[in-house]
Amino acid sequence: MRSNLIAGLDIGTTKTSVLIAEVLGEGQRRPELRVLGVGQARTGGVRRDVVTHIEETTESVRTAVQEAELMAGVSVDRVWTAIGGDHVRTLSSMGVVAVGGEEISRGDLDRVHEVARAVALPPDREFLHAIPQEYKVDHQAGIKDPLGMSGTRLEADVYLVTGAAQAAGNLRKAVQRAGYRVQALVLSPLATAHAVLTEDEKEVGVALMGIGASTTEVCAFHEGKIRHIAVLPLGGDTITNDLVRGLSIPFAEAQRAKERHGVAFAQLVDPQETVELPGPGPGQTRQVARELIAHIVEQRLDEIYGLVHRELEDAGCMETLGAGLVLTGGGAALQGSLEMAQQCMGMPARIGVPGEGLSGLADSVARPRFSTVTGLCLYGADRFHETGQGVSTLSSGLMTRIGAWVREFF
Ligand SMILES: Nc1ncnc2c1ncn2[C@@H]1O[C@H](COP(=O)(O)OP(=O)(O)OP(=O)(O)O)[C@@H](O)[C@H]1O
Ligand SMILES: [Mg+2]
Repeated sequence: MRSNLIAGLDIGTTKTSVLIAEVLGEGQRRPELRVLGVGQARTGGVRRDVVTHIEETTESVRTAVQEAELMAGVSVDRVWTAIGGDHVRTLSSMGVVAVGGEEISRGDLDRVHEVARAVALPPDREFLHAIPQEYKVDHQAGIKDPLGMSGTRLEADVYLVTGAAQAAGNLRKAVQRAGYRVQALVLSPLATAHAVLTEDEKEVGVALMGIGASTTEVCAFHEGKIRHIAVLPLGGDTITNDLVRGLSIPFAEAQRAKERHGVAFAQLVDPQETVELPGPGPGQTRQVARELIAHIVEQRLDEIYGLVHRELEDAGCMETLGAGLVLTGGGAALQGSLEMAQQCMGMPARIGVPGEGLSGLADSVARPRFSTVTGLCLYGADRFHETGQGVSTLSSGLMTRIGAWVREFF
């Protein structure tokens, strides 16, 4: 593997996607990615973002990575892998130390981070991220980078993310059996946010809503800090299941009907319009009012937006979302979903599509469903720049794992 290559792997509930890119502008503050290859496969053995059948998932990983490798004309051995699911927990932790010398040194920062992350974890949990949010020097708050400042007391506010050790372990196993190594596990909503939110939006206040197949990811930022992360157990496939019941058609047909004729807002549909769906017998068809499909879709979407609204309200975020809502994930491709979001959430909304910081075959990932996999590579490229290390320089799996989350401090 060339040292400036980076690969992302997103094992979603319906599709496994892989992106291989070259990191350009090493040493620059925001490196750019030249997209070399994209691979996709149907996901097997995953329920609600958690691996339930390792062999099937391994096969999906192998197919998707090989496809991306073929397109890129390179091979990879390590992949930045997304982890999602409702087993993920977050907590804020504070660390305090006395500053050793005249000014705050790298050593002081290391110590304060060490203190902040010294949280006892039960054996069935594993650390995924430890993200410094801000520092206080001698009670002066709101400091982003205290290095070199004078002071006697240094405090760090660190956002810790943990996941179920078993879920993380099975994910690693599925990747390893396919012949690759996990560079680091990255929380899926954080990766997604990396691909579609701007620094300005995060500063002003923004909510991200990623509608996947089985889950909806929510993430809120304000003043550049993560304010809330949640994974809700409803997604695009929940809508499809409603269509299965409401229209008495098989899942695959319902999925097709939703993607072709589905509309988020029944008002947007001409009440006279009908669409052709499969009939009860083989080779038969029937006409169904498009408005009926829209009604079913709208009802469920209304519930999903309602849950997101409540989630953000309970977290105390609703007042701090000056930049509004960014909608992404496969479900964001539904016609009228933006209008629906604006109405249900009462704030401006836009669709988040990867593109920022990308060159090369960037068009191949310019769709909302590729936000997570693109975010993984961008996230990896940032770490890459921060450590000055190529992806191939880390060796043992353990080193990679510990190294990756500790390095988030720099
Ligand atoms: N054009 C479209 N219109 C409506 N829905 C769509 C469209 N394209 C994709 N979807 C829906 O998006 C969902 C898949 O989204 P995505 O690919 O982001 O999910 P995933 O990553 O596999 O799942 P998850 O993130 O929940 O694990 C499916 O429910 C699919 O039907
Ligand atoms: Mg997904």
